[in-house]
Amino acid sequence: MKWRFLVGAVGVTAAVAAPAQDSADIRRLAEETRKVAGDLVAQVRGELTKELEFSGPLRAVVVCKYTVPEISSNISRRTGWRVTRVSLRPRNPALGTADAWEQRVLLDFDRRAERGEKPESIEFGEVVSEPAGRFYRYMKALPMTPLCASCHGPADRLTGTVKALIESEYPHDRAMGYSAGQIRGAVTVKRPL
Ligand code: HEC
Repeated sequence: MKWRFLVGAVGVTAAVAAPAQDSADIRRLAEETRKVAGDLVAQVRGELTKELEFSGPLRAVVVCKYTVPEISSNISRRTGWRVTRVSLRPRNPALGTADAWEQRVLLDFDRRAERGEKPESIEFGEVVSEPAGRFYRYMKALPMTPLCASCHGPADRLTGTVKALIESEYPHDRAMGYSAGQIRGAVTVKRPL
């Protein structure tokens, strides 16, 4: 029952919030925000691919630990929006833990993928009112691709050294054991209005 309420709540907020802006405004917000989220995905993919190709997964862990947070804070500074990545099972709980709104959306993304929606095109955005003000909030699903398996896949897909490095750097890691096509997490954008 609780589950039904939570998922319902996502839809309800959207229905309530939408009339506050006209639909052309919402479309513009969605388009601009989608572009910024896409920018993060593309930069991360570029860095990861390069590092995996030239130096292997061990070095690429450094990209994930240092370069990715740097890319997202650069985008956040440039836009003035919070732009980052979160998950229901984070590797780095300090940066990757989803807040209540994000958890609801991520649960809904999993359901949408189970119902057969293509994970790479799953996204959601809406205007929300919070104690700190009104925001356009947006998330885009990050599905597991072959690129991700060497660090987030089933334990037997990780080499011993990568596994050992992750275990020592991230003692609270919950982000192994994902299979192809599952949603690993999402880019999340929170944009003050
Ligand atoms: C070379 C290893 C490596 C690869 C390959 C990799 N990741 Fe990660 N991923 C990490 C590490 C390490 C972190 C923790 C970063 C930090 O310290 O904030 C992380 C964090 C994340 C997070 C942020 C939430 C969390 O769990 O902390 C998401 C989302 C994520 N990865 C998705 C992906 C996706 C999707 C792919 C494939 C496109 C991928 N990763 C490929 C190592 C990797």
